[in-house]
Amino acid sequence: MSTLSTLVNLFLLLALIGCSSWTVRSISSCKHININEVRPHSVSITEFGAVGDGITLNTKAFRNAIFYLNSYADKGGAKLFVPAGRWLTGSFDLISHLTLSLDKDAVILGSTNSEDWPVVDPLPSYGRGRELPGRRHRSLIYGHNLTDVIITGDNGTIDGQGSIWWDKFRNKTLDHTRPHLVELMNSTEVLISNLTFLNSPFWTIHPVYCRHVIVQNVTILAPLSSPNTDGIDPDSSNDVCIEDCYISTGDDLISIKSGWDEYGISFGRPSTNIIIRRLTGRTTSAGISIGSEMSGGVSEVHAEDINIFDSRSAIRIKTSPGRGGYVKNVYISNMTLVNIDIAIRFSGLYGEHPDDAYDPDALPVIERITIKDVIGKNIKRAGLIQGIKGDSFVNICLSNITLNVSKKKPWNCSNVKGYSELVSPEACVQLNERIFPDHFSDCYQLPDLVRSSSSRNRAAWLLSW
Ligand SMILES: *[C@@H]1O[C@H](CO)[C@@H](O)[C@H](O)[C@H]1NC(C)=O
Ligand SMILES: *[C@@H]1O[C@H](CO)[C@@H](O)[C@H](O)[C@H]1NC(C)=O
Ligand SMILES: *[C@@H]1O[C@H](CO)[C@@H](O)[C@H](O)[C@H]1NC(C)=O
Ligand SMILES: *[C@@H]1O[C@H](CO)[C@@H](O)[C@H](O)[C@H]1NC(C)=O
Ligand SMILES: *[C@@H]1O[C@H](CO)[C@@H](O)[C@H](O)[C@H]1NC(C)=O
Ligand SMILES: *[C@@H]1O[C@H](CO)[C@@H](O)[C@H](O)[C@H]1NC(C)=O
Ligand SMILES: *[C@@H]1O[C@H](CO)[C@@H](O)[C@H](O)[C@H]1NC(C)=O
Ligand SMILES: *[C@@H]1O[C@H](CO)[C@@H](O)[C@H](O)[C@H]1NC(C)=O
Ligand SMILES: *[C@@H]1O[C@H](CO)[C@@H](O)[C@H](O)[C@H]1NC(C)=O
Ligand SMILES: *[C@@H]1O[C@H](CO)[C@@H](O)[C@H](O)[C@H]1NC(C)=O
Repeated sequence: MSTLSTLVNLFLLLALIGCSSWTVRSISSCKHININEVRPHSVSITEFGAVGDGITLNTKAFRNAIFYLNSYADKGGAKLFVPAGRWLTGSFDLISHLTLSLDKDAVILGSTNSEDWPVVDPLPSYGRGRELPGRRHRSLIYGHNLTDVIITGDNGTIDGQGSIWWDKFRNKTLDHTRPHLVELMNSTEVLISNLTFLNSPFWTIHPVYCRHVIVQNVTILAPLSSPNTDGIDPDSSNDVCIEDCYISTGDDLISIKSGWDEYGISFGRPSTNIIIRRLTGRTTSAGISIGSEMSGGVSEVHAEDINIFDSRSAIRIKTSPGRGGYVKNVYISNMTLVNIDIAIRFSGLYGEHPDDAYDPDALPVIERITIKDVIGKNIKRAGLIQGIKGDSFVNICLSNITLNVSKKKPWNCSNVKGYSELVSPEACVQLNERIFPDHFSDCYQLPDLVRSSSSRNRAAWLLSW
């Protein structure tokens, strides 16, 4: 007995070491971007004739100010300040080494005339607009090939006034795919912080083909009924850190993507090293979602300290034959769920293809997904986990999950294989083989634990029950 308790103490200590080294690791990767927080030069948008009355269209002022500031790009960069006021504008482009900084009472308002949101080419990894074939509207705030960009404010507001776009979607009068509120493409060293984003026409923040992106301390709001107003969608991007965010929108709070069917497969750019911490929110869709566009692959997704309430799902993976690609090495821990229809939902037959040229034999690989330390109340169904016939999702590992579920059949699983420990209500038969002693190494664990000795591995895993 005393040997056992000594061992338990030893394991506890090792678990703590494992835990803190993960924390340190994630903090450092969140801070690890190369930006100039101090800009030697600063101008206010009013110096370029902007009028903050909510009526005057200021697109030219934004474009002129940024054109002017381009001459400071190689001198440490510059800051464009937006003071208190309501600044109506059409879409404008950022430049490298720029800080766009909003006063706490500044509101940048997206024009309600769709012509102020010009069209641009579709993304090569999608082959067409996401909603309609062909081109797509450019986001309100757009950047391409940039480095060292900050969008920040003292909780100032960027409001897309998306309802005209939602109406056009609903009444089927869109002529091109709807725009995002902020899109940064092929850019590095990007920080988006301390802001509120409202009423995006479509996905709210879309980093695509980017690297080293931090989204920190932002609030994203759109009506629960607004169509496809995802919060943050890292897409074919790596080293993305999202922390301290509150999101309440009409679609997934965070949706990790990497291109669509044959276009995503041939573009071949994965999303990897995505960290999500301290996220709170609710949605008519999922809290953390992967896919359905995942054809370039998604790996190394680490999420912790997540609160999801009043939502359809907490964790969602969506894919389909034709997607190809993979979703692997996902680790989600410490979630609190309240009022959720289906806590964990994987859909292998999501459908939705860009055209008929997709290859139905391009099957996605879904493996090594670990979900642990979840507590939930008022959950209708624990899991609806459906792989693909002949292409099972494997090494799905569930640990320490306690859900107060109202449905009689809490789990419904097909074409999936994995392991579980301490799951209540007990997991479906496809997942109910115990993790210990035989399947520990089949389950994805955090990299710091993986690198350490296998006894420490076991200790950390064991003691994290
Ligand atoms: C981005 O860089 C690529 C390659 O240098 C170039 O072809 C493309 O025109 C650039 N796009 C913009 C908007 O600068
Ligand atoms: C978050 O933003 C608010 C308002 O912008 C600010 O008061 C607060 O200190 C920020 N918190 C962090 C952790 O940056
Ligand atoms: C920022 O403003 C939003 C919208 O008004 C509010 O919900 C949120 O609590 C504020 N955030 C902070 C950190 O003050
Ligand atoms: C569809 O919605 C848009 C935006 O509100 C509106 O301008 C347009 O008149 C509507 N069209 C139809 C056919 O209802
Ligand atoms: C992205 O930038 C790189 C150079 O950094 C360039 O080679 C590439 O063509 C760009 N891609 C796109 C899609 O703009
Ligand atoms: C957010 O605002 C807080 C409070 O003003 C400030 O301390 C912090 O540095 C800001 N964060 C970023 C990343 O700008
Ligand atoms: C779990 O997340 C909550 C925030 O949602 C946080 O307060 C708590 O400290 C976290 N627990 C652990 C063990 O990290
Ligand atoms: C589950 O929820 C029901 C209804 O809210 C409640 O009566 C019951 O005590 C809860 N069970 C647990 C184990 O928390
Ligand atoms: C499992 O879910 C599928 C798809 O929703 C449904 O067709 C099937 O009837 C469910 N099975 C059970 C036992 O609930
Ligand atoms: C199980 O998860 C809960 C959070 O949901 C956490 O508070 C608890 O410490 C975990 N239990 C163990 C033994 O790790």
